[in-house]
Parts: sequence; C-alpha cells; structure tokens
Amino acid sequence: RRAESGGASDSDGEGLRRLENVRDVLRGSTRSGRVLMQGWVQGLRVQKDVLFVDVSDGSCSRVLQVIADPSLHSSNLTFGSAVEVEGRLQASPFPAQPVEIVASSIVVLGTCDPLEYPLKRKHRYSLENTRRYPHLRCRDPAFAALLRLRAVATSATHKFFQDQGYLQIHTPILTSNDCEGAGELFHVQSSHTADSQDARKEFFNSPAYLTVSGQLHLEVMAGAFRKVYTFGPTFRADSSQSRRHLAEFHMVEAEISFTQGLQDVIQEIEGLYCSVVRHILTSCSSDLELLRRCTAPEHKAKLDKLLSIPFKSITYSEAIDILQNSAKAFHFVPDWGKDLQREHELYLATHCGDVPVFVTDWPRELKPFYARQNETDEHSRMTVASVDLLVPDIGEVCGGSLREERESVLQERLNRLGLLDSYQWYLDLRKYGSVPHGGFGLGFERLLQNVLGIPNIRDVIPFPRLYHSCPL
Ligand code: 4AD
Repeated sequence: RRAESGGASDSDGEGLRRLENVRDVLRGSTRSGRVLMQGWVQGLRVQKDVLFVDVSDGSCSRVLQVIADPSLHSSNLTFGSAVEVEGRLQASPFPAQPVEIVASSIVVLGTCDPLEYPLKRKHRYSLENTRRYPHLRCRDPAFAALLRLRAVATSATHKFFQDQGYLQIHTPILTSNDCEGAGELFHVQSSHTADSQDARKEFFNSPAYLTVSGQLHLEVMAGAFRKVYTFGPTFRADSSQSRRHLAEFHMVEAEISFTQGLQDVIQEIEGLYCSVVRHILTSCSSDLELLRRCTAPEHKAKLDKLLSIPFKSITYSEAIDILQNSAKAFHFVPDWGKDLQREHELYLATHCGDVPVFVTDWPRELKPFYARQNETDEHSRMTVASVDLLVPDIGEVCGGSLREERESVLQERLNRLGLLDSYQWYLDLRKYGSVPHGGFGLGFERLLQNVLGIPNIRDVIPFPRLYHSCPL
C-alpha cells in the first residue's frame, strides 16, 4: 500500500504507516495515494465548514472517519446508508483513530430512510434490545464485535485440535440414532413424504432425526484414527426457555483412542478450554472492550480465574456431600442418585473458588448407555467414568466420559435398556479391534457466554432457535 501511495505527502506517509496497524479497517483499493473505501455510515456530523462521516465495513471494531467538504453532503447520506468514499489518507489528530480519509467523493450506494430504519443513531442498544431485529442486529457495533469474537473462538478451536494432531470429521446432521437417549429429537420428514397419501412412509425408509450429538459417529472413526473431532450444529427439542438452552447449538466433540483413564479426557477438555479462552483474551482486545458496554463490570475480574489450571476436580459423591453440608436452602434437595440442577452447579463452582470444576464418576443411571462402568464403590453404588465441567455463572459447559469398550458389559447394558437391536452396529465396534477410548462434547455457545460474560445464550449466536421461536 505504501508503494502504491506514490506522490503522498509526509503526513499521508505517516498516515499510511499508521494504517499498517489498522489495515483491516480498510477494504478497497488505493490508486496513486487515493483510497477507496466501501462500508456503512455509523455516524454523521455536518458542521458549517466540514462534514464528518464515520464508516464501518464490519472487519474490526473501529470506524474510519471521513472528512469532507459540506458540499459532498446529500439528503441520501444518512445513518445506515451504504457508501463508497474516495479520497486521500491523512494522519488523524485523535490518538484513538490513527488515520482519516479526506474525501474527494462520497457515493451513496444504498439508501436508508432514517425515519423507517429501526436502529437509531444515538441509541446504545443492549444485546437484548437488538433481538427485536434479528435481520438487522449484526449492524449494532456491540453485536458485531461479538460475532467477530465468535469467529476467533471458532478458529482457535480448530487450531487447538490441529496442533494436537486430531483429524476433523464431518459427522452427519441427519441420523437415525438418539445418542443421548433423552428423547429430545427433531424428527425429519421430507415435504414429499409428508404430503403423500401414505403418511407413514419415511423418506429414508426408517425414522431420521437431526443429530443431538456426533459422538457415536466419532466413535466409529476412533476405530481407525487415534484422535478425531467434529464441530458443528447440534439439535435438541428442548422446550425449556432457559438462558443456556437452544434448540440449535454448536458442539465441539472429540474422541480419543487408547486412553489410560478418565484423566486423559479431562486433560484434553482443560487444554481446549484454556487455549480458546487465552486466544480470545490475548488477540481481540478492542472487540472485548466494545462488548464490555453490554456486560457486567465485575466480569473482567473473573476472567483470569478461568485459566487457573489445573481445574478443580471432585467426584459426584463429594459434590453431593458439599451440597448437603452447605447452609444454603436449595430449591431441589441434593441427594445421591439425583441429577445436579443449575443451582447446585453454580454453588459448586462458587464453593471451589469461582473457578472451573470437573465433577467425575456419576451414578450409572444418570448417564447414557455408552458410559464406562466403574467398579462399585464402598457403598456398593454403581458409577460410570464420566465427567461434567462446571463454570461460574453458567454451570455445565462440557460433558464427557470413557466409553464402555468391553463387549459383554456393553451388551448387557444395551439389553437392559432395550436398545440391543438398534445398536448392533455399535456393539460391532467392540467386537473388532476395540480399545479403551473416551471423549467429550463442549457447548460452544456456553463457552462464549462464559468467557464473554453474556448472561443469555440467545446473544452469542447469530440466529438463535428455541422453543416457539425460529424467525427468518
Ligand atoms: O452433556 P451433553 O448432552 O453430551 C453429549 O451430547 C455427549 N454425547 C458429548 C460427547 O461426549 N461427545 O452435551 C454436551 C454439552 C453440554 O455440556 C452443554 O454445554 C451443551 O452441550 N448443550 C447445550 N447447549 C445449548 N443448548 C442446549 N440445549 C444444550 N444441550 C447441551
């Protein structure tokens, strides 16, 4: 860009040097010192001698200030309109904004009637407010920052796995299994079969569902590849309208073969979590700053604790003891054999020092058929080698386990649950070259809630889908 600037003056040169630091602000081309920028108007001030226009192309948290002669102002140049600005760069006197464009022309490419436009210039929207405009909310600077942070977390996730030698697998969205056995399935039918006279006819000849987890397909792959992962949309017909449940969310799932014990799974969860959190905290400071206007002030102070490794680890039985010995009056009375409720999860994270905490070795009946059975404990209670990761303010963000690799034990369990016929193929995996293995699934939106300090899961995903709500 500097080479292209040809006849630029010293201040232009300085501006261009500064532009190196904010090059993402500008898209477009430079022609002999001229700059062409396309974007949307985020601010406008018309003074007697000068016109100021703030333009953003969404690529970073900054807007680029355009300075122009007031004669370039037109009635079409309004907040929200799309523009193409041509001009020359110069160093800006404002430190927060290294360069500005002195415009020679401003062309309005797409008009935006300020009276009709639902977003208002001077209004600072909360994330919750922008939900009213699902098709426009990405134009709000704070939500735009959040979407950029989400993209960074996505790349950091892939980078972690690739650096650790995992193979990415595209597990299917359409499936015939209910991996978790919780019955929260979306049944898929084609419009063709639904309209046909024989309403019982299935497109696939057997019922098909949107996947609730890619785990079983990953387990297939873990019979040929040592470490595999998948990262994609996951669906649960969950009618709870809580702040941490969606009908469509994204899960990061991994499966590791030749494990020595549950600790191998725990270490990978911890490694992934810290790597993604660290990446966001170190590489996105201006977007984080922009988002802070929408988050609780105390959140910032909590962030370091998310990286306090090794994470705390307690067994489910210890967790129940802690809950039963606490002075807190829980709505749901904690009892061995019952699932932990959100109030219990939050209490445990706080009790352990406001840090992430693993809860291991759960009662067998609380976990799906695939979890590996432990030896019975001193009270003859049956547990499985499974783990949940709980984090402050959110609760459970990740669940994992060793998988039952022993054919006879798995067969007996499937039989007891009446699943033997449907899972013959899964049992086959234990017949042919079965090895100890385990894995986990991390809720990507809950991780984002945790690291960004966003109370409601609907505000960390571009298009939230939940019970009674699937707009656009
Ligand atoms: O604990 P879950 O149900 O585990 C599984 O699906 C395993 N098969 C994963 C595996 O081992 N490969 O779900 C894993 C995580 C939860 O800890 C939670 O963070 C997230 O997925 N999750 C949801 N996130 C948003 N909305 C929902 N309705 C969610 N249900 C689960």
